[in-house]
Amino acid sequence: MTAAQADLQGDLRASLRIDRPTVADGAALWRMARDSKVLDLNSSYSYLLWCRDFAATSAVARDGHGEPVGFVTAYVRPDRPDTLLVWQVAVDEAYRGLGLAAALLDGLVARTAAEHGLTTVETTITPGNTASERLFTSFAERHRAGLEREVLFETGVFPDGPHDPEVLYRIGPLSLTTSA
Ligand SMILES: CC(C)(COP(=O)(O)OP(=O)(O)OC[C@H]1O[C@@H](n2cnc3c(N)ncnc32)[C@H](O)[C@@H]1OP(=O)(O)O)[C@@H](O)C(=O)NCCC(=O)NCCS
Repeated sequence: MTAAQADLQGDLRASLRIDRPTVADGAALWRMARDSKVLDLNSSYSYLLWCRDFAATSAVARDGHGEPVGFVTAYVRPDRPDTLLVWQVAVDEAYRGLGLAAALLDGLVARTAAEHGLTTVETTITPGNTASERLFTSFAERHRAGLEREVLFETGVFPDGPHDPEVLYRIGPLSLTTSA
């Protein structure tokens, strides 16, 4: 990386702010999911509803103008209140490789841990999504937590054509003393 590229990355990073989503962010989250070309794109309605009802367990990163450039959506599992299920994570292409997804995840887990007494984070990843595998493996390492993997949903259970299996990553117990 050249010095100019490093400066640009530093400027980008410094301009970012992480907070909770609002309904006004729902459209931007839907667009980021669409533009990722990797995530399952759910209805725009579901992102709007998510921003209303699960804002407390989700986070957005905003640029200097307040526009969302990354997000993580998650919920506390109703039958396992010590477990945060991370549904989707996406970062705008221009902001990737800056540690933003890791910062979103660390910040969200620290916030929800304080409010809910979390011990475990779960997510599902489709095989071959290297960036996502690295994001969550390195999250587990940072928090000195165990990491177990098992297939949650096999290809055959999806009713709408071919779909890769979803592999459940269960990360815990978390050590949150050094987190963001
Ligand atoms: C996955 C994604 C959110 C990562 O965002 P990001 O802000 O660039 O990630 P970070 O810079 O915080 O990096 C987190 C870790 O992942 C690694 N990583 C990021 N992109 C990577 C890639 N393309 N290949 C391999 N590793 C990658 C980083 O090196 C870092 O690992 P480290 O902590 O061991 O150094 C982003 O690539 C994205 O939006 N992808 C499309 C949507 C998607 O796949 N979402 C995940 C499924 S829920």
